Amino acid sequence: MVTFLRILTGLVLLGLIVLAAIIFLPVRTTPALASLPQDYAPPEGAGEYTMRLADCEACHTAEGGTPFAGGRPIRSPLGTIYSSNITPDEETGIGGYSLDEFRAALYDGLRQDGAHLYPAMPYANYRKLSEEDVRALYAYFMEEVEPVRNSVPETDLPFPFDQRWGIRTWKWIALGEPGEVSGSGDPLYDRGAYLVEGPGHCGACHSPRNAVMAEAGYTAEDDDFLTGGEIDGWTAPPLRGAQSAIRHWSPADLKLFLASGRNSHSGVNGEMRLVVRDSLQFYSNEDLDAVVAYLRALGGAQAEDYAAAPELRTADRLGMEGGGTEAALISAEPGMALGPRLYLDNCNACHFVDGRGADQVFPELDGNPLVTAASPNGLIDTILHGAELPSTALRPYSLRMPGFAARLPDAEVAELATFVRGAWSNEAGAVTAADVTARRELAEERAAAARE
Ligand code: HEC
Ligand code: HEC
Ligand code: HEC
Repeated sequence: MVTFLRILTGLVLLGLIVLAAIIFLPVRTTPALASLPQDYAPPEGAGEYTMRLADCEACHTAEGGTPFAGGRPIRSPLGTIYSSNITPDEETGIGGYSLDEFRAALYDGLRQDGAHLYPAMPYANYRKLSEEDVRALYAYFMEEVEPVRNSVPETDLPFPFDQRWGIRTWKWIALGEPGEVSGSGDPLYDRGAYLVEGPGHCGACHSPRNAVMAEAGYTAEDDDFLTGGEIDGWTAPPLRGAQSAIRHWSPADLKLFLASGRNSHSGVNGEMRLVVRDSLQFYSNEDLDAVVAYLRALGGAQAEDYAAAPELRTADRLGMEGGGTEAALISAEPGMALGPRLYLDNCNACHFVDGRGADQVFPELDGNPLVTAASPNGLIDTILHGAELPSTALRPYSLRMPGFAARLPDAEVAELATFVRGAWSNEAGAVTAADVTARRELAEERAAAARE
């Protein structure tokens, strides 16, 4: 009995020592994956681009709030976690973070004060970020983002999940190797692997979770990686394996979906809508090709099948192709580009979102030869000065389209005309403000000459 008590006491003591170790032993942070010179300056624009690749804005911006000022509630199975203010404000943001502390947040989920961050911050994926990208992000957040004073609500999870030291043990079990991404030697595939497994953190939603709620694998070599997950009650479909729908999409369709959220198979919804809106639509043409190549390779395609898809036209990127124009116009997103917005404000009442107008009343603009003509002058003149259908014996009403010369400046007419020439199935070239100015001046000269 005494021996038993002694063993028990010993076990409890041991437990307490382990616990104390977990809480108090200094945490070792992951060192930089490459050593860059102290004064390394990232290329112009690299910071913002990497931020787009990694989609920092989506989580760190509250609904209707200033970008990066935090406070967005993120629902997790454990409760609601509030994202931090990551503007460079000294007191409420990350203005006081050194480069090493910033890297530790991205790689090891550590806050400046040493507290462990909840994995709602996808450091499990960001551990793969290259040192160049970490530097670019750091420079961006410290130098380009405006500091915003904003204290975000305290995350208050029920016990025991409010004990942040517990996350430390979770990290030991759950995190993969820093910097590890799958590679094949094919540059396109390898870039795609980096983007999807690292900054893009696609697995955070598209991979199933294991017993400790960690992503089941972090690279293509893990069989469960990207085989489908769940986010906010929605299924994030499998991106590989027999059940994956995208296995049957052409490279061009897949690329179009990623860049615009729509293709002939599908329109984007739910959390993925935000991924496209805040992140994927900003991927460069080459990076989209890389993601497509990688996803197709996961689906079993051979390298020659995933040769680069054609470059997307502006119209595709805006989701303006085919039914895409209509859906985009209906969605009336606040962030909508100027061209479609001008169309909604000025033309939609008569020509409608589908560009089909009304039979014999308002002409169809989709496939309209005046709209798609090699010279944009007919379209420009119609927008500036309007048009009128004659009254005939058969159709006595004269139908007038108003002119917009007084309402729209040349630059806006150009945006609008460019949009209409690329909307629906139209594929005609862009119009410049100078084109419009020339037509406007010509009309003024003619009017002046007529008055003399
Ligand atoms: C999927 C959502 C999500 C994304 C994407 C995300 N974060 Fe976070 N991040 C969070 C959440 C949630 C927290 C707070 C976690 C906590 O309180 O434990 C956080 C915390 C942080 C912190 C700690 C700040 C502090 O002092 O509290 C930093 C730094 C940070 N994120 C930077 C970034 C950067 C840089 C990116 C893009 C590369 C990014 N995050 C992308 C959700 C996200
Ligand atoms: C925040 C969670 C989240 C992240 C991160 C995310 N997705 Fe998604 N994704 C979803 C959800 C949910 C859907 C299903 C909704 C839909 O199809 O519109 C989806 C759908 C898709 C589809 C359509 C699949 C199909 O079968 O219809 C593709 C392709 C896709 N995602 C690719 C990606 C890629 C590539 C990334 C990383 C760059 C990514 N996703 C990151 C949540 C996410
Ligand atoms: C109040 C209704 C109305 C509005 C608003 C309107 N249109 Fe029209 N539009 C018409 C009518 C009616 C015609 C037929 C007139 C004609 O062709 O002589 C027409 C003709 C056209 C034509 C010539 C088509 C052809 O086959 O000849 C184009 C191009 C056009 N509109 C573009 C636009 C654009 C772009 C806008 C927005 C700036 C716009 N319209 C706004 C009513 C309207």
